[in-house]
Amino acid sequence: MHNIVEINNLKKSYKGGFEALKGINLTIRQGEILALLGPNGAGKTTLISTICGITTATSGTVSVGGHDTVKDYRAARKLIGLVPQEIHLEPFEKVINTVRFSRGLFGAGSDDAVIEKILRQLSLWDKKDSQIRALSGGMKRRVLIAKALAHNPRVLFLDEPTAGVDVELRKDMWQIVAGLKADGVTIILTTHYIEEAEAIADRVGVITKGELMLVEEKDTLMARMGQKELEVQLSEPISAVPDAIASDALRLSADGTALIYTYDTRKERTGITSLLAKVSEAGLVLRDVVTRQSSLEEVFVNLVHKADEKTSQSEDAA
Ligand SMILES: Nc1ncnc2c1ncn2[C@@H]1O[C@H](COP(=O)(O)OP(=O)(O)OP(=O)(O)O)[C@@H](O)[C@H]1O
Ligand SMILES: [Mg+2]
Repeated sequence: MHNIVEINNLKKSYKGGFEALKGINLTIRQGEILALLGPNGAGKTTLISTICGITTATSGTVSVGGHDTVKDYRAARKLIGLVPQEIHLEPFEKVINTVRFSRGLFGAGSDDAVIEKILRQLSLWDKKDSQIRALSGGMKRRVLIAKALAHNPRVLFLDEPTAGVDVELRKDMWQIVAGLKADGVTIILTTHYIEEAEAIADRVGVITKGELMLVEEKDTLMARMGQKELEVQLSEPISAVPDAIASDALRLSADGTALIYTYDTRKERTGITSLLAKVSEAGLVLRDVVTRQSSLEEVFVNLVHKADEKTSQSEDAA
């Protein structure tokens, strides 16, 4: 599978010097679905807008389908579809004209068969002659998608396509995304819903404070979720894990007051019984035992927390 989007050391500072992207490196493979997660203000929209050429980068490069998005923006732009986070539509325009117009904007010749297919796919065909103002919020979001698809893009960016959308429509969106993927379209979407990333993404990226903290196969993340941690709290701190119980699955907490054992809940034998026996043989006295399940949510929260700590440290240093 080849890379369709390549992002090299992309930085963006807004007027006034605020650094919204701090050197993003990312390659996106043709045909994959990449979900970008991150808290409000993390830089997701800035990243997408910069790739799509709506915002200009301060430094770094982006190429789409081998075309530099600045030097060769026309060729790059033709491959890209964008569903923006904010809804901006002409209220008095008819649905079908709005979508036709988008197609023309990208230099694609008029083709009503394509427009009809897209509108049907998005359950908008019976609304094709309605004015935009007469549509519900969810329908407007569908129009935004139809507009983005009008010129048959190969890479589709969806910036929070399911924000403020009901469960039904969210499921529809997922189906639409799956259908596009089946047609070979590469999809990059941002979301605040971790379960959404779990449901449809091939890979998951986490952005916080302008940095890409993690990009990983969803399956790898899910496998990590099958892991549980057992924290064996000790009555007295120790300086090292005793040799008698040392193993790869066992580590000592930073303050030496707990042994942390990682195990797979799906295995028949977790090794907990023998661990606890060995701990007491080694003469250690237990204060308490706690178990924890790690989840994508937890991975996410930890990363965001880490980014916060880093910022407050550099603020202290300044
Ligand atoms: N036009 C602009 N001028 C100045 N600062 C901006 C501009 N657009 C965004 N920012 C700042 O850049 C940072 C990243 O914003 P961005 O919209 O990319 O975040 P986001 O991850 O998409 O957040 P959300 O989840 O709320 O959509 C924020 O601190 C924001 O205030
Ligand atoms: Mg945003």
